[in-house]
Amino acid sequence: MVTVSQETPDDRWEIEALLDSAFAPGRTGLSSYRLREGVEPVRALCLTARDADEGRTLAGTIRFWPIAIGEARAPALLLGPVAAHPTRQGEGIGALLILEGLERAEAAGWHRCILIGDEPYYARFGFRRALAERITFPPPTNPNRILARALVDGGMDGIEGPVHRWRAGDGEAAGDPSIET
Ligand SMILES: CC(C)(COP(=O)(O)OP(=O)(O)OC[C@H]1O[C@@H](n2cnc3c(N)ncnc32)[C@H](O)[C@@H]1OP(=O)(O)O)[C@@H](O)C(=O)NCCC(=O)NCCS
Repeated sequence: MVTVSQETPDDRWEIEALLDSAFAPGRTGLSSYRLREGVEPVRALCLTARDADEGRTLAGTIRFWPIAIGEARAPALLLGPVAAHPTRQGEGIGALLILEGLERAEAAGWHRCILIGDEPYYARFGFRRALAERITFPPPTNPNRILARALVDGGMDGIEGPVHRWRAGDGEAAGDPSIET
């Protein structure tokens, strides 16, 4: 039994340790990390899954960053990193965090979510390669791993171009003042 909560500053080092153990060394060299540099994550969507036991062991983590897509700088969420502790994979912890994160993202007014990952896993949450075919990431990114999901009807219509690091005012410029990072 795990409980999902919003990440707090006290979670930081435990999360770093979990990410180090779940991902191959050099994870911060991935191009997705370039989009996160100097940008605050969307705090309300960064979640932890902890055991209900006395130690409240960290079993999983998910974070989301804001990004802007194309010339229009359409606001989007970048899902990830998401990880379950290596001893806890296959228990549904990843799915729990992804579904909860997406539900909160929809409620917060975000229109679309992008990630770099395996379609065979993320398709069950509605992510599709076909929706992201006209979106590009900084190299070296395997284009076949860029996946997208609309969070509102038509949320991916006409979304194309390179992804950009989020900058102040991106939400307001796109007419989405409700979006708070
Ligand atoms: C990917 C990850 C977050 C999934 O979380 P999880 O809690 O282990 O997964 P769930 O229990 O929700 O789902 C398990 C199912 O997903 C499948 N699955 C997991 N990773 C997969 C992948 N990369 N491709 C296809 N299927 C995958 C499992 O085979 C299992 O299938 P089943 O339901 O048919 O048995 C987790 O395995 C993990 O932390 N991996 C290492 C870090 C990582 O790669 N993160 C994602 C980066 S994009």
